[in-house]
Amino acid sequence: MRVIKVVKKMQTMARRWQSEKKRVSFVPTMGYLHAGHESLITAARRRVGRSGVVVVSIFVNPTQFAATEDLSRYPRNLEGDLAMCRRAGVDVVFAPSNEEMYPSETVEFSTYVSESFLSQSMEGISRPTHFRGVATVVTKLFNIVLPSVAFFGAKDFQQAAVLRKMVGDLNIPLTLVVAPTLREPDGLAMSSRNAYLTPTQRTQAVVLSQSITHARQRVQASPKFLLSKTLSKEIEHLIRQQPEAEPEYIEFFHPDTLVPVTKILRGHHIALAVRFGATRLIDNGPV
Ligand code: PAF
Repeated sequence: MRVIKVVKKMQTMARRWQSEKKRVSFVPTMGYLHAGHESLITAARRRVGRSGVVVVSIFVNPTQFAATEDLSRYPRNLEGDLAMCRRAGVDVVFAPSNEEMYPSETVEFSTYVSESFLSQSMEGISRPTHFRGVATVVTKLFNIVLPSVAFFGAKDFQQAAVLRKMVGDLNIPLTLVVAPTLREPDGLAMSSRNAYLTPTQRTQAVVLSQSITHARQRVQASPKFLLSKTLSKEIEHLIRQQPEAEPEYIEFFHPDTLVPVTKILRGHHIALAVRFGATRLIDNGPV
């Protein structure tokens, strides 16, 4: 496995793969890899087989964090990440520095990619500059790695929707695959941010997946539709039973447009964000 830290080197290698007609399967990450990432890597390998190439990027992207957010304390463990990538059979890890990705010798970095519809609700309200940062860095990574297929996790449902729209709108020549969320045995969605939770918060955090299950059971059991106002209140009550949990949003929406619905039907989606002290967790699922 090769570790590349320089943009130009990564781009030169990607161009060579392109000229050799090798398929490149790409998993962009911010590191602190867990079993959820490993499942994306496995899917990436399965997609291109042994004749293709699997690239994982590890880069904690500053432009997707607001000044008030957890950039400096975002968990990092490059050595552990490289060991996991080696075990998982990754061919190349691209791990650039901030200076490589956002050079500012002459003039500050000043070109951004913004999706202006799907990015406006939910995470976009709580974190107004987040998706601009994600879309920008992912575009840069695509231009550097030149993948034919790229893998993202369904835990970040809105992120995947925004990136899929970006790929379509900008005619980026690759296939975007969204892989299912991996969960801990008690249902908590795997996330690098779970590492911030205290043992008490960790126990209480199961309420996110319990909320999704509750919503699903209520919708499946109802002969017509359910009002989102009613179900949101029930779920807020469920969340607040956990002493350290503070719900930030509970949203029911159409999975294709992300437009909120007032009448919930089967096949609609729930997404929620819940704070446990300084730690913010998200989850989602169909109902
Ligand atoms: O989902 C993530 O880990 C990040 O948002 C991504 C897609 C790697 C961009 O920094």
